[in-house]
Amino acid sequence: MKTITKIVLFSSISLSTFAQFGLSPAQRDSINKLTTNDHNNMLMQLNIERTQLRRGPSGNPKDANAANSSEEKVNQYTLPDALVLKNGKKVKTAQEWLEKRRPEIVENFESEIYGQLPKNIPSVTWKVISVKDTMIGNQAIKEKTLKGTVDNSAYPAIKVEINLLVATPAQTPKQVPVVLEFGFIRSPFGPNTTQPIGLGSSGEPTWKEQLISRGWGYAIIDPSSVQADNGAGLTKGIIGLTNKGNFRKPDDWGALRAWAWGASRALDYFETDKDVDAKRVAIEGLSRYGKAAIVAMAFEPRFSLGFIGSSGAGGVKILRRVFGEQVENLASSAEYHWFAGNFIKYASKLTPNDLPVDAHQLVALVAPRPVFISSGSPQVEGQWVDAKGMFLGAAYAGSVYHLFNKKDLGTMDFPKLGMPLVDGEIAFRQHAGGHSTGPNWSTWIAWACRYWGDCK
Ligand code: GCU
Repeated sequence: MKTITKIVLFSSISLSTFAQFGLSPAQRDSINKLTTNDHNNMLMQLNIERTQLRRGPSGNPKDANAANSSEEKVNQYTLPDALVLKNGKKVKTAQEWLEKRRPEIVENFESEIYGQLPKNIPSVTWKVISVKDTMIGNQAIKEKTLKGTVDNSAYPAIKVEINLLVATPAQTPKQVPVVLEFGFIRSPFGPNTTQPIGLGSSGEPTWKEQLISRGWGYAIIDPSSVQADNGAGLTKGIIGLTNKGNFRKPDDWGALRAWAWGASRALDYFETDKDVDAKRVAIEGLSRYGKAAIVAMAFEPRFSLGFIGSSGAGGVKILRRVFGEQVENLASSAEYHWFAGNFIKYASKLTPNDLPVDAHQLVALVAPRPVFISSGSPQVEGQWVDAKGMFLGAAYAGSVYHLFNKKDLGTMDFPKLGMPLVDGEIAFRQHAGGHSTGPNWSTWIAWACRYWGDCK
């Protein structure tokens, strides 16, 4: 675990290699070819020549074209006002926000950044595969694994089975709150599945143990069982199934919305699980899964709380801010699959300043529900995720929370490392570790119990 905290995020190239971990060179080659093919097809649909595509900066600070990491060099930009309607009128009440302004912003995010959900997404049937009484650290848990099978009768060539794990304290008389993580499910039902008392990367017990010792539960959804994490997979998975194996159209959904859709289906299942209080389910994720977590929070009102880890560009970082990762990186063949094809326009014929919305409005879509924005330390995590850019995404959402008489971050000044801004419904903390939500779990839990109870 220690090494994980030491990883400094380099270029998206190295990370896409990470996503392909465990594949043979031939498999990698084939994925890269199919990805290029799909990316090219989207460029063609958008009428963009590859030469018109701007290249993003490098995540390696030593490179000549390294991404900006100096506050003095940050550009001037103007953010779209969350409270001004397209007709120029100012929104003054929560009702006006919900009925008029919010739908405008949703439409912009759907058409230009994350894509729309298709009208007729087939249903999912959940099946409990196994139930086991086991231990996590020294605590007894009930661990279930499930498969969610998507009805593929309209296009049997593509099969989608969603993997989900749910763990709740063993002897609980009541339905418990659960944190759903976009993450990785290790085969939990092998012979020696009892896990030792684990120290997370921060030296604290793991997030699982911290939640269970609180009397809460945890769940993990495997995003790649919903939709592959590459462009090659866009004609497969849930996106490919709804398109019957065809290429996407420019405003079709990307992987982030597909993953978020999968999380909503997990929530459907929780509503039927007698161990889970489906009214108290949080969504959590790190990095690309942190992006998926804020997208899930924004578009799924049933999620009660959010824990958005180092989501960076495409998550809660202000996209117009020239610091760390840029729209040009997100639009490249390594990452465009997270988004709608239309997003690529902003790295070619248009610029990030042309975006009709920015990340603070994504956070605003969550209002009035509580959301916690998490980041690591630049010295350990690197500057690619742009901690301050994420802070600003959270801070500028405040005006919308005010309409609901909810508290914002309480300051517009970027706090010092470790300072928790946790008094309100928008919370922020930059922990002293690396690219992980690990060191922020205890702070998150203390904040969450204000909403979920059981604080004492
Ligand atoms: C790359 C990518 C980021 C992403 C990260 C990750 O660094 O550029 O946007 O968040 O990978 O998911 O680990």
